[in-house]
Amino acid sequence: MPQTIQGFSRLSKEEKINWLVDNFLPDATNAAATLKQYWNSNNQLQQLHDEFIENTISNYYLPLGVAPNFVINNKTFAIPMAIEESSVVAAASKAAKFWMSRGGFKAEILGTQKIGQVHFTYTGENLLLNEFFDDIESILLADLKELTASMESRGGGVTSIDLVNKTDYLENYYQLYVTFETLDAMGANFINSCLEQLAESWQREFNNHLAFTESKAEMVVIMSILSNYVPGCVVRAEVCCAVSELTEADGIDPEVFASKFIQAVRIAEVETYRAVTHNKGIMNGIDAVVLATGNDFRAIEAGAHAYAARNGSYSSLTHATVENGIFRFWIEIPLALGTVGGLTKLHPLVKLNLEMLGNPSAPQLMEIIAVAGLAQNFGAIKSLTTTGIQKGHMKMHLMNMLNQVGATNSEKAKAVNHFKTHKVTHSAVDLFIKNART
Ligand code: MEV
Repeated sequence: MPQTIQGFSRLSKEEKINWLVDNFLPDATNAAATLKQYWNSNNQLQQLHDEFIENTISNYYLPLGVAPNFVINNKTFAIPMAIEESSVVAAASKAAKFWMSRGGFKAEILGTQKIGQVHFTYTGENLLLNEFFDDIESILLADLKELTASMESRGGGVTSIDLVNKTDYLENYYQLYVTFETLDAMGANFINSCLEQLAESWQREFNNHLAFTESKAEMVVIMSILSNYVPGCVVRAEVCCAVSELTEADGIDPEVFASKFIQAVRIAEVETYRAVTHNKGIMNGIDAVVLATGNDFRAIEAGAHAYAARNGSYSSLTHATVENGIFRFWIEIPLALGTVGGLTKLHPLVKLNLEMLGNPSAPQLMEIIAVAGLAQNFGAIKSLTTTGIQKGHMKMHLMNMLNQVGATNSEKAKAVNHFKTHKVTHSAVDLFIKNART
């Protein structure tokens, strides 16, 4: 029976590993060596990574790839992507190249508003609360000044505070609904600090308000936190060209290709099972760049999927039309991103990846990342409606399969050559290696 442990965080890395090996990995081969082989020999760099989180025992590598040839608003980018899935970078690169010769991608920001809430319960008269809020709103804002001064000097800050009555949904439930402009910062710390200050001021003023004392109304702040649902922080990215230019679609007639493509998008618009997979493909591209640029992919995922369900049923994040012979394909997605703060200056690869993108502002990064998602979705639908997904997928997966059977470099080279003209399956790869070794 593994032991529980007190003070685990105070053990050294070495001690933590020894404890894990003794208690949870006694039968594993070379567990300690496996963990330690990922330690960086540059102690300073390793310490930086150790200190990102608590209880670090090693580093978890993901490949960092690059998808070149992205033309976005007439500027060319090489987009860094951190992802383990074999075909994602290849598909993004292929889509980028396809659209490069058709005018590239166009992207625009529809809004940059962030949101936070102070959730509270209140048992008194609604009218009294409304009057109280009107009376003290300026005090609430004044109390925030110390926190917001620097952001305000750069053009950001708190943009509105509203009192919202939610008692139709939950007894006694109200909130202060606060909007923010956080410029190039993702803003989580800024927003949460402002909200906690707001809650404190709100409570203080409430306690000092005679009308509440007299009426014995009670108010309890439940929590203060930003929302990762940001339907006002949205970017739109698009590609378009004449249907006749949709050649190269694996030999398929452009009209047929456009029609099947649009039907595939419509299916994702109306059918949840398909919409989830369709959007998962989009997030393959989005998350990879979000991670490479040190942003919070969990926040982006949560916000994107809530947005996909904003009309009451889960639907596609992309849309497509053909009008007057013009094929148009676009995405609209909320992306609360930062290009300052967080890991951006701290993680050497994040810093480099942002440099690779020309040190974009947060809105520019929103445009780049939306484009990565759109490109990914274009590649997926193009494959799905023409050759099928497995041909390209298995081809990209070949190296993983060869590594799994311990293929040598020379066996890999022979296999890659062979499978240029043969279908990649697990059994075909096994057979090829077996034959090569006899
Ligand atoms: C696989 O990671 C993503 C796809 O399933 C996306 C899609 O079906 O659109 C290929």
